[in-house]
Amino acid sequence: MATMRGSARLFRTVRPAFSQGQRRLASTGSGAGAKSWRPLVLGAMTAGVGAFGAYKYVWDDRKDMIKDLQSLAPQPVHAANAPEAQPSVWSGGKNNALYLWIHLKPTANTKEVAKVAAKLQKFVDQVVDPKMKDEDDEVLAGVGFGPNFYKQTGGSVKQDYTFAHRKGSLGDMPSSGGDVFFHAKCNTQSKLFELAQLLMKNMPAGSVDQAEDIYSFVFKNGRDMSGFIDGTENPADDESRQAVAVEPSTGGSYVITQKWIHDFKVIDSEKEKTTEAWVGRTRADSMELSRKSITSHVARMTGGNAYNQKKKFEMVRQSMPFGTVTGEAGLFFIGYCASPDNLNFMVDRMVGAGGDGHSDDIMRLTRNSKGTYWYFPGAAELQKLSN
Ligand code: HEM
Repeated sequence: MATMRGSARLFRTVRPAFSQGQRRLASTGSGAGAKSWRPLVLGAMTAGVGAFGAYKYVWDDRKDMIKDLQSLAPQPVHAANAPEAQPSVWSGGKNNALYLWIHLKPTANTKEVAKVAAKLQKFVDQVVDPKMKDEDDEVLAGVGFGPNFYKQTGGSVKQDYTFAHRKGSLGDMPSSGGDVFFHAKCNTQSKLFELAQLLMKNMPAGSVDQAEDIYSFVFKNGRDMSGFIDGTENPADDESRQAVAVEPSTGGSYVITQKWIHDFKVIDSEKEKTTEAWVGRTRADSMELSRKSITSHVARMTGGNAYNQKKKFEMVRQSMPFGTVTGEAGLFFIGYCASPDNLNFMVDRMVGAGGDGHSDDIMRLTRNSKGTYWYFPGAAELQKLSN
């Protein structure tokens, strides 16, 4: 998936900082790695003034390394002073993701809940020490709010982002609602579990009505569980990811989340050619079909069935497979956009409400069990909620 391409890119810039010894030192802090340097440091100090240079060398080296580690966090590449987005929004993917979907009780104090949500980065830093994080345990997180909740906290948005229930000939898209949604990515799943625990523990007492935490994983190097490569056409470089995902004047992002449960009987029994026609790409290597149906997923999403169709709208998709073999499994769909217009265009075209009456054939192999839209405020907007 392109989100993985993004993360690979991020890691490539940082990796040279992790020569073997350095890496051990960075990830263990005052533990074993730091101890292995201690005799060197003590020896250098007792050897007099000349040796002080050696000590300084070690310390400078360590400072440089910490700086390199800090650069793991996504750095904005758009115009100087442009409002920043939250870390989850346009950064690349990791091996695992957490989706924590919370519905509050009508009696919940929304301002108090918003204060907890606005401290998200502090909870992330509690789970992984920011000075010691490396590519294995770095967590990139963000929080979004449902329209009613955000209004009640005094937040404002440029565009309405209410998700209407959609009925389709190949299945419905329910509007499940929700108040607060956390998205976090990490290469270590247990860190995401710790984060979810911490967030739930810190919710004001008696405020949560229902919540669901879903943990997803990279499957077969970036394939959806239907076997198709997911993310081929995702915006790949940082600049285009920001342009597509971030509303430039606020740093905010409009987000769709949908839980899709796959029908493995269909996936396992249909001919490969049939499922390829449904998607509009080949299964083995994601080659676009030169001739495809207007009902294929690619044709629905781009706006037409021409080969290499000019895209009407784009989205930064960060969806990942989830589930169990004995229960339900499928795709947790999450997409970030600068405007809800992009989202509406795509979901309408999936359910036959895009003007031409056609539905999306991908809905023949999967069923949407819940879904809604969120607004992920820009970093500064989120900070305001903590007051
Ligand atoms: C279980 C549900 C879904 C599955 C299995 C799925 C799978 C895929 C696959 C295999 C591709 C082709 C490769 C690629 O470019 O990534 C694709 C493309 C795409 N999908 Fe989905 N998708 C699902 C739902 C959705 C939804 C709900 C949306 C939007 C709301 C969406 C938006 C897109 C977009 C924008 C593209 C790129 C089209 C292009 O530019 O060629 N997908 N999807």
